[in-house]
This record gives sequence, C-alpha cells and structure tokens, in this order.
Amino acid sequence: MKIAVPKEVREHEHRVALDPASCKKLVQAGIGVAIEAGAGARAFFTDEAYREAGADVSTDLAALCGAADCVLKVNAPMARPDGSHEADLLKPGSLLLASIFPTRNLDAVERLAARKITAFSTDCIPRTTRAQAMDTLSSQANITGYKGVLVGAMELPKYFPMFMTAAGNTLPAKVFVIGAGVAGLQAIATARRLGASVSATDVRPEVKEQIESVGGKYIGIEVQASAGGGYATELSAEDKARQARMLADHCATVDVVITTALIGGVFAPKLLDEAIVGSMKPGSVIVDLGADGGGNCTLSKIGGTVEVGGVRIVAPTNLPSTLPHHASMMFSRNLLNFVTAFWKKEEQRFDLDWEDDILKGCVITRDGEIVHAPTLKALQARQA
Ligand code: NAI
Repeated sequence: MKIAVPKEVREHEHRVALDPASCKKLVQAGIGVAIEAGAGARAFFTDEAYREAGADVSTDLAALCGAADCVLKVNAPMARPDGSHEADLLKPGSLLLASIFPTRNLDAVERLAARKITAFSTDCIPRTTRAQAMDTLSSQANITGYKGVLVGAMELPKYFPMFMTAAGNTLPAKVFVIGAGVAGLQAIATARRLGASVSATDVRPEVKEQIESVGGKYIGIEVQASAGGGYATELSAEDKARQARMLADHCATVDVVITTALIGGVFAPKLLDEAIVGSMKPGSVIVDLGADGGGNCTLSKIGGTVEVGGVRIVAPTNLPSTLPHHASMMFSRNLLNFVTAFWKKEEQRFDLDWEDDILKGCVITRDGEIVHAPTLKALQARQA
C-alpha cells in the first residue's frame, strides 16, 4: 500500500494533508508514504522531517501520484497552474481522501468519477462519536472560530477587555456570535478569553446550554430548526422575519458581530442585510465566517473587506490556512484516524466494508459512479 501526498495548489493554501508525526504512524503501520518536495514547507514541516518519519520525498508529482494506491489531500482536486488537472494525475482505481466539499465542487467530483477514483470526503463523515476523531469539519472550524475573533479584534477601533487605568477606564467590547456550532462556540470562548462581553444565538435550541457553558449569554427566538446530526435546516419565511427583527435590535447594541451560520454544514444563509448593517454603530465590525459558504451578510465581499456606513465587514475565506501548522497537524490526525480505522495491519490491506456508516456517509465516487446522494441532488439542480 502506497500513500502519496501532493503539495496543495489552491491559492493561499498553506496547509498540507499529512504532517511528519502522522506520516511516521502510517509508516509504522506498514504503509509506504511518498510526499511531494516542499509540500509541508508553508506549514513549517521540512522535507527532512518527512524523510526522518520514513517517507520518500519526490519532485516528480506525476510519478508520485501515478504509483499511489491512495492520495491524501486537503482540498478537492483542481486545475494546476500548468493547466493540467490534479484529478487526472490519480491512478484509475485508486483512493482519494480529502475534504472535497462535493456539493461545492461538482466539476471535480465528475472528473473523479470519470477517472474511476474511489473518493472519500472527510467533510461528509457522519457526526457520530466513533467518527469524531476523523471529522475535519470540526478540527478546522475550531480554528476558524478562534482566528475569526482575532480578526475582529484587529479591526475594532476599541479594546476587547475592560481596562481600569490612570488614563481612564474602558468597558469590555460587546461581541455577538451568530451560529453556535463548532466555530461559533470557539469564537465565544476566544472572545471571552480576550475579555469581551459575549452574546450568541442559534436556531438549534439545544445549543443554549453550550453557549452558556463557554461564557456566552444566549439570545434566541423560539424556533426548532435541527436537521439531525448537528446540522440546521433553513428557517421558514415567518421565522426568518422574526429572526431578522431580533438581529436588527441586537446588532445595533454590539461592537462586533461574528457570523458562523451554515445550513447542512455547507451553505451560508443570508442573515445580515443592508438594513441590519445600517442599524449598527459606526466603528463596529462584522466578521463573516460564513464566507466559504457564500457569506452570511449580503454586503460581504467574499475574501475581502468593505466599509458601509462606518461598519467594517470582513469576510475572510479559508482561515484554517492562516494557522497552517496546527491546522495541518489536526487535519493529518483526522486522516490518520480514518486510514487506520480501515487498515488491516496484519494483512497489509484496506478492509472497506461498504455497510460501515462512516464509509457510506463520506464516499462520493466509486466504480466510475457518483454515489453521494446530496451531490447527485446538487448535480440535478445544476442541470435544471
Ligand atoms: P455548521 O457549521 O453546520 O453550522 C454552524 C452553526 O450555524 C450551527 O450551530 C447551526 O445550527 C447554525 N445556524 C444555521 N442556520 C442559522 C441561522 N439562521 N441562525 C443562526 N444560526 C444558524 O455546524 P457545526 O459547527 O459543524 O456543528 C454543529 C453541531 O454538530 C455541534 O454543535 C455539535 O453538536 C455537532 N457535532 C457533532 C460531532 C460529533 O458528534 N462527531 C462533531 C461535530 C459537530
């Protein structure tokens, strides 16, 4: 069994799918690992560290991928700077393990099926206790929530903490977090650590206690929008209107709004519009962490910053890549846990039980077919 790890080609991507520590564990399990030279450099993992972990380091990407039974990547395969496509480098019949976000990357999925790759997307792994250690959505969302608060603190023309000094006193900044899943809960905890006064809302009523447990004040409208598995459903038109009124009232009173809301873990509902932004105080800041899913604010410039009526709206994409060392380390452990869960060391082979709930949930393409129901639905919607 040979695993290959190419360097990521996505713009501004600094993560790598395997760090030297997890590489060493794969090698110890009897798996051969080959990594593209420089793949870990932007996450501060040297080629030498991979060699010491037992990997081959190669500059010949085509040979590396062409010989691999399984390729580990961070992002979905995409076009390379030389015009070729990463999917076309993979050996037909081989495995791919990556965070593909298949419903956002339909072209890549079609290419993988055509190439007869068995592709597993770690962002589609079910939210079960057994799968938790393989869940890249959670490990990366934690980083997004943490870094999002730091971005807000950098943009705010005020302190976050309360200070009592000889030159006068400052009150704590008021931070409001919309969406209290993994990213949102980490944002609440981080803003609290910086000394802010934090409130938060969600549409899944069960998170009230979680918000309070990390030091936030729960602000809610009574809705029931749990889709199961930790995911939220879209609100009805009536509930959307009620939520918009609540958001308008509350956003006007705070200094920083951090939005993290996603539907089905993929698409960002539009929650902040011009009227709500217009109600906010000049100097206040919105950090739209829904940017990768299209943005939670209608005024966001995805990947950039705009200022509207004195309110700065920052919509950073791929924040985990801005903490590439730890993001790669966590991501690697998720992939290592996945691989070793299905690897039979004594027999030196993968045992892929297609009735296993983890594999069933995250297999996207198999035997030349697209087999992931939400992706098939998204393809049908695109064709319609
Ligand atoms: P997510 O990234 O899909 O969504 C973020 C948050 O936005 C969610 O809390 C969602 O309810 C909220 N949201 C959606 N629409 C909204 C709206 N209109 N207004 C306000 N908030 C809105 O969720 P994430 O962070 O991936 O996970 C959510 C939950 O899943 C966790 O809190 C946890 O309970 C569960 N989970 C379980 C795991 C496991 O058991 N293996 C692993 C990870 C998460």
